[in-house]
Amino acid sequence: MSTAIAVMASGKGSNLQAILAAITAEECAIKIELVISDCADATALDIARQAGVAHVLHLAPSDYPDRQTFDAACAQKIQSLHCEWVILAGYMRILSREFVQIFPEKIINIHPSLLPAFSGAHAVRDALNYGVKITGCTVHLVEEELDSGPILAQTIVPVFDDDDEESLHQRIHQGEHILYPQVLSRIAQNGFTRNGRHIVWNQAQN
Ligand code: GRF
Repeated sequence: MSTAIAVMASGKGSNLQAILAAITAEECAIKIELVISDCADATALDIARQAGVAHVLHLAPSDYPDRQTFDAACAQKIQSLHCEWVILAGYMRILSREFVQIFPEKIINIHPSLLPAFSGAHAVRDALNYGVKITGCTVHLVEEELDSGPILAQTIVPVFDDDDEESLHQRIHQGEHILYPQVLSRIAQNGFTRNGRHIVWNQAQN
């Protein structure tokens, strides 16, 4: 049986789309059971609906008194559908400590830089302004401190002299669309062992 996951997304949803494509191509043995967005007009919601995801949900933060209550509603939905992993794909809200504690080592994020460089909301712009010659993307476990969890995998992306934020982010996106499905596939197949900050991928058992 495929591993059931929930995806949380706020925007364009191109990573969600890449994951769905990998599932369709039978390259990734997971099932997206639920997609949640905090934004009513997120394209991610349309992508999920078109792909036939069974549960596609918009929850409006303004309907809840605070971050904890909103996150608790999301957690309740994720748990009720028995999703084993929570995959953040362009989810723009900072998760409460309570939410992170409900799913220890089960929340994964993708970030558009080579962490620990350029954490935060403007990673691509910050890398460009700093003048780095390479950047990339990082898939990592989510812990309470933003962009700080152990690293699962990274991809390097070159920065070109004539790049602007959009062209660089586009190139990073191409790397993300390969990396994220690969990581989820490895998680579903053999999983990993965590040793402090170090993640070691388990080998296939014959
Ligand atoms: C990606 O660049 C990801 O690294 C960051 O947000 C962006 C989401 O893009 N966390 P999309 O919505 O998946 O197209």
